[in-house]
Amino acid sequence: MIYTRIAGTGSYLPEKVVTNADLEKTMDTSDEWIRERTGINKRHIAAEGETCSDMGIAAATKAIGMAGIEVTDIDLIIVGTTTPDKVFPSTACIVQRKLGIHGCPAFDVQAACSGFVYALDLANRMIQTAGATTALIIGSEALSRVTNWQDRTTAVLFGDGAGAVILQASKEPGILATHIHSDGQYADLLEVPAGISSGYDAVRAEEAYIHMNGNAVFRRAVATLGSIARETLDGHGFNKSDIDWLVPHQANLRIIKAAAKKLDLSMDNVVVTVDEHANTSAASIPLALDTAVRDGRIQRGQLLLFEAFGAGFTWGSTLVRY
Ligand code: ACO
Repeated sequence: MIYTRIAGTGSYLPEKVVTNADLEKTMDTSDEWIRERTGINKRHIAAEGETCSDMGIAAATKAIGMAGIEVTDIDLIIVGTTTPDKVFPSTACIVQRKLGIHGCPAFDVQAACSGFVYALDLANRMIQTAGATTALIIGSEALSRVTNWQDRTTAVLFGDGAGAVILQASKEPGILATHIHSDGQYADLLEVPAGISSGYDAVRAEEAYIHMNGNAVFRRAVATLGSIARETLDGHGFNKSDIDWLVPHQANLRIIKAAAKKLDLSMDNVVVTVDEHANTSAASIPLALDTAVRDGRIQRGQLLLFEAFGAGFTWGSTLVRY
């Protein structure tokens, strides 16, 4: 049996920090409202000209270092992003060029906030059945570029950053289960309506920013994360009590607490970074993972559950023996 093992993690946050107090100065909001409703204290914002691939490379370099591999060992690159550098080529190909890798498959996955768990699912399949041995998986987002900084209902929620993992084929257990889903009937509830085939003109108008029905997204996220946890554990012979760490998508502390409750998990067993990073979409799980690996909370041999939910709606989970 070939398993997919996490050999290294890395992350990157842009230097610029915008606190809730900073936002109070530019829009009708308050630190108290933001913290109470979301748990967010601050977010990092990409510098002018800093792209998803730049942030992804910074995170990847740390993951490569932790894994102790050579860049030339990498034979698969997948980037989860909803804010790519360019329409094309993919951000994964731009990462590939910047790293000086030639020939291996490199592509992006657009599954919004679920992009990282979608990418893990695909990489796991390619390692188990298609001969890939060493995969670089990145979640990277510059959400500040699609944030309407005049809209208090969305602007307070998002941030920029990147996380990365190196996955290796191994005889030792690693990824034990992955589940990915989507249901496009909810596409209108959370979107950046501007697109390419729907017309470049829209890109210059207000459609180029995040539009969201926050209440509906919240309700659906909580219900869905409960069902994905059951599907992941029940289907693979694990109990809630087997989980050492829940590493959820970091959208909102209230959603995270509800997900933990459904798993009967104490918040002491949940990695929370939304307070420091805000919602970084596809980057949020690898950012949280790297934080808890590097500060020593997550240890080799522990059982980790990643859970994600995002626009589409898309959702998914990964159960990993770290
Ligand atoms: N500051 C102050 N007041 C605000 C702000 C703000 N930033 N934003 C909204 N308000 C006001 C509203 O206008 C409203 O005022 P009113 O009662 O006078 O009409 C009031 O606060 C309450 O608004 P609600 O939208 O009902 O507040 P709610 O408790 O639902 O919280 C929130 C809003 C935080 C967006 C919540 O719905 C949420 O977290 N939803 C999930 C959205 C999400 O996480 N999306 C990310 C992408 S999907 C994902 O990653 C899971």
